[in-house]
Amino acid sequence: MPNIPLRNGGPKARIAVIPGDGIGREVTPVAVQVIKATTARRGRPLEFVEFDWGADKYLRENVSLPEGAVEMLRDDFDAILFGALGDPRVPSNQHAADILLGLRMKLDLYVNARPTELLHPRFTPLRDRTPADINLMVFRENTEGLYVGVGGFFKKGTPDEIAVQEDVNSRKGVDRIIRHAFDYARSHSRGSAGFQPASGSSQKPLRVCMSDKSNALTFAHDLWQRVFKSVRAEYPEIDSRHLYIDTLAMELVRDPSQFDVIVTCNLFGDIISDLAAQLAGGLGLAPSANIHPGRTSLFEPVHGSAPNIAGKGIANPFGAVLASGMLLEFLGWNEESAVLKQSVKSALAENVTTPDLGGSKPTLEVADYLTNYAAKHS
Ligand SMILES: NC(=O)c1ccc[n+]([C@@H]2O[C@H](COP(=O)([O-])OP(=O)(O)OC[C@H]3O[C@@H](n4cnc5c(N)ncnc54)[C@H](O)[C@@H]3O)[C@@H](O)[C@H]2O)c1
Repeated sequence: MPNIPLRNGGPKARIAVIPGDGIGREVTPVAVQVIKATTARRGRPLEFVEFDWGADKYLRENVSLPEGAVEMLRDDFDAILFGALGDPRVPSNQHAADILLGLRMKLDLYVNARPTELLHPRFTPLRDRTPADINLMVFRENTEGLYVGVGGFFKKGTPDEIAVQEDVNSRKGVDRIIRHAFDYARSHSRGSAGFQPASGSSQKPLRVCMSDKSNALTFAHDLWQRVFKSVRAEYPEIDSRHLYIDTLAMELVRDPSQFDVIVTCNLFGDIISDLAAQLAGGLGLAPSANIHPGRTSLFEPVHGSAPNIAGKGIANPFGAVLASGMLLEFLGWNEESAVLKQSVKSALAENVTTPDLGGSKPTLEVADYLTNYAAKHS
């Protein structure tokens, strides 16, 4: 996001690359190749350092996230490009939890940004909807809520068993994610090529919708209500409103054009961002960013390691490439980011896609198309 300064304040960026498992190892190199093609001609100094963290290392050395890794990423890198984790040989998925959740929590990546943009009309399941109707950003709180793992069992395994899962919401946590949504709306506007950094007065300002379930969750989401009221008062020029999460789910399907920026808690954001992604083609076209503004942040496709197709050379790299576009925008390299998105749009328009999107191309042919496009248009 261009409202976030480059960590080291300079034109040079260091990117840690963690391909992970399965198709993460097939799509991440494509993303790196396309970033390099986009940035090469401008002579942008970029340094990529790859880390082999994943199931193989875990099984071989019993190491998931090596000691000192978090500090190294925090201090020596601007961003992390992440593939996917998950391997049938590790049924507990322990390494994935250690690495991905570990980085989200230990780097305090409190913003999960999930954009949904219809890049070609044929990918929406909604009738008569065009790209102008489906273009929105979901900001999900990424470090609190029902995902903190606070809870317990009582009389486990008996007919009288009780399971408790606590919903943890801090004023600081709620405030910073809502504020991030308003800052994003203030610094962006809706143009012909999606959301852009706000500049001319002819561009459409973005609207913010905060969603909760404060009518039922009368403590946790009462806090969301009170914080929302106080933060929105600081952004009087932004059109903002509140919807209960169930209403939001219905409205998103009925008329997605009414939404620009949605901000919500961890659980609701997890669900509503998947619903939104499906409006624009689903997993194969969904990128995601885990951000702490001004600090090392992590960018990844939404999909997993897809063991069922790993090694077959047919993994769709668009999610990883679009996530790389978010990474470049985070670094403040907006033009390069736009070229990456445009390369995917062009590939979709010409049906240069892998089988999951109805095409017949292998990963490497799609990669070549994107790389050539990026090199030609940068
Ligand atoms: N962020 C992550 O690292 C992440 C996210 C989700 C799942 N996972 C892990 O991935 C493993 C598989 O999980 P899953 O099957 O539920 O989800 P998945 O996203 O890996 O796959 C779901 C389906 O979509 C297909 N698919 C996904 N990405 C694709 C792509 N880029 N190109 C073509 N087809 C694609 C797969 O072939 C599969 O049929 C599990 O171990 C899970 O825990 C990891």
